Amino acid sequence: AKQVVLTEDASLPKATSIKIRNGVANRGKRVKVSGWVHRLRVQGKNMTFIILRDGTGYLQCVLTDNLCQTYDALTLTLESTVTVYGVINELPAGKTAADNHELTVDYWECLGKAPGGEHAMSNKVNENSDPSVKYDLRHLVLREEKASNILKVRSEVMKAFRSYFDGEGYVEVTPPALVQTSVEGGSTLFELNYYNEKAYLTQSSQLYLETCLPSLGDVYCLVGSYRAEKSHTRRHLSEFTHCEAEMAFITFDDLLDRLEDMICGVIDSVLAHKQSADIVYKLNPNFKKPERPFLRMDYSDAIQYLKDNDIKKEDGTFYEFGEDIPEAPERAMTDKIGRPILLCRFPVEIKSFYMKRCPENLRLTESVDVLMPGVGEIVGGSMRISDLDELMAAYKRESLDPSPYYWFTDQRKYGTAEHGGFGLGLERYVAWLLNLHTVRDACLYPRFTGRAFP
Ligand code: 4AD
Repeated sequence: AKQVVLTEDASLPKATSIKIRNGVANRGKRVKVSGWVHRLRVQGKNMTFIILRDGTGYLQCVLTDNLCQTYDALTLTLESTVTVYGVINELPAGKTAADNHELTVDYWECLGKAPGGEHAMSNKVNENSDPSVKYDLRHLVLREEKASNILKVRSEVMKAFRSYFDGEGYVEVTPPALVQTSVEGGSTLFELNYYNEKAYLTQSSQLYLETCLPSLGDVYCLVGSYRAEKSHTRRHLSEFTHCEAEMAFITFDDLLDRLEDMICGVIDSVLAHKQSADIVYKLNPNFKKPERPFLRMDYSDAIQYLKDNDIKKEDGTFYEFGEDIPEAPERAMTDKIGRPILLCRFPVEIKSFYMKRCPENLRLTESVDVLMPGVGEIVGGSMRISDLDELMAAYKRESLDPSPYYWFTDQRKYGTAEHGGFGLGLERYVAWLLNLHTVRDACLYPRFTGRAFP
């Protein structure tokens, strides 16, 4: 058979290069679009449909006659890169495609052909692949619609947090990842050799944020935190994006109000973004904006709730006051209550060294965890110790050597203030919003026990 070779018709108007997201605005004009072959359907000898993907959207392209009879057309594979030229037209009633239009191709080129057959991407990894294969081939999985949709919403959520804080007048800072003090206890520290000194990857930027209050006022950051977690759960990562904020001259009630305000404000901005809202309702069809005010519940009432609802430890006994409420009972309670909970006032012995005690009961701290149905804890926060002697006693109680914390201690010497803040795990927020089974799916390249590649 004679080989068909295509040439661009020089009499046609020059094509303008566009991204798929701008397709609607460019209907009727001759355009040029580059992307990856997401789907491919050959319909007889004279027609081939390509669903093209460029990261901004999906575009149905139709190749007819000799356009689909070239060597490249006959050997075209999924994931190959192509540039197509032609005109986008609205589809007649009864036909469906993304954005309700399609590009009628008048010329096209294949830029890079992907392997087919047994080496085709869909043969190496697909929905039925073992999870470990999916993580090994995360770079390919990202091309799938669900994975990329999650990342698009994640990007919008990050923007929404920034715009919330911006609107409230917070200053964004970027504290260091390499540190020499712990925040949340020694057991989850990643230790490293730093020019022959011991250093760690930060667990939380909180202490640094506290040092910014006197110079910058209310501050926040959106950076990585690292935890050498022993627990292999669907909500624990070794590296996560931590959205932390710190505020001066507030009360515990102010802290709770601001948390609720932020969580709801971010939902509103994400849903105001059409593409994100569509993804939220696609992945989480039953999503409902939480009602305000959130349920405010004390830790001691949660212990009682677990008893009243027969939620027990593995050994069959009940949780008692002073014990940590682990993930399983916490989730059981949250799912049963079915709405966000601000769980408040945990006992001193199960919380971090820096937390302020409740003036009305010194066994308790002015602390809060935000619990969301489906995920459980997404935020940990508290008021901080404002008194120097109390801070020195706290180091002692937790057997922390105060000397490396001199810069933190100085905050209580050079003009102390009532202040508080919180940390929200971005992946947990996204997992809640999109109803994901695991926070791992909310990461570009998740890091968890035993995995730091690719
Ligand atoms: O409750 P945490 O440990 O609190 C702090 O680190 C405080 N210093 C924050 C602050 O007040 N500035 O962690 C806060 C949140 C958790 O509620 C959770 O959402 C997330 O960070 N987080 C994790 N997310 C994923 N994987 C892990 N291993 C996480 N550890 C904490």
